[in-house]
Amino acid sequence: MKTFTYTAQDEVATDRLGAALAVALPDSTVVALHGTLGAGKTRLVQAVARAEGIADGRVVSPTFVLIQEYTEGRRPVYHFDVYRLKDVDELEQLGAEEYFYGTGLVFVEWAERIDEALPPERVDIEIEITGEHERSFTITGRGNLHARAVEKCRQYLTQ
Ligand SMILES: Nc1ncnc2c1ncn2[C@@H]1O[C@H](COP(=O)(O)OP(=O)(O)OP(=O)(O)O)[C@@H](O)[C@H]1O
Ligand SMILES: [Mg+2]
Repeated sequence: MKTFTYTAQDEVATDRLGAALAVALPDSTVVALHGTLGAGKTRLVQAVARAEGIADGRVVSPTFVLIQEYTEGRRPVYHFDVYRLKDVDELEQLGAEEYFYGTGLVFVEWAERIDEALPPERVDIEIEITGEHERSFTITGRGNLHARAVEKCRQYLTQ
């Protein structure tokens, strides 16, 4: 396991984290996003999508859709928001396993609600609001591959 904390003073710095994640995360990574309403979960997915070459404005909050797919970038990005999910069975009906063990990058907002359905080897990102424009991101890689990816992300950000 590998953990580090990155403080973004503003949204430009959040975009830098998005760029670092796009460089560091291997294909098929599941990123579990944690943090309160308005913490910046969707904003971080936008930052990664931008770095993957997905047009700005494509990434919206998927609250009413549950899954959004962006496949026009370098790699497919799948964006889940499970806030309104009734139970894990509903997730199964949506075929979530295929996304979790597929080839794209997968981001899950409110991931703690489906903890038992998430792959144990993944990246967790805990977002805290520390100021009007400031956010603290604690990034944890679970499993060797993802621990290495998180270390690569940390190095990119300290360059
Ligand atoms: N440094 C920053 N990084 C990310 N977002 C920021 C930052 N500074 C301000 N913000 C603002 O915080 C808000 C984050 O909203 P966002 O929709 O990403 O939250 P969320 O965690 O997805 O919430 P929800 O649980 O409602 O989906 C946006 O309005 C964004 O402009
Ligand atoms: Mg959101």
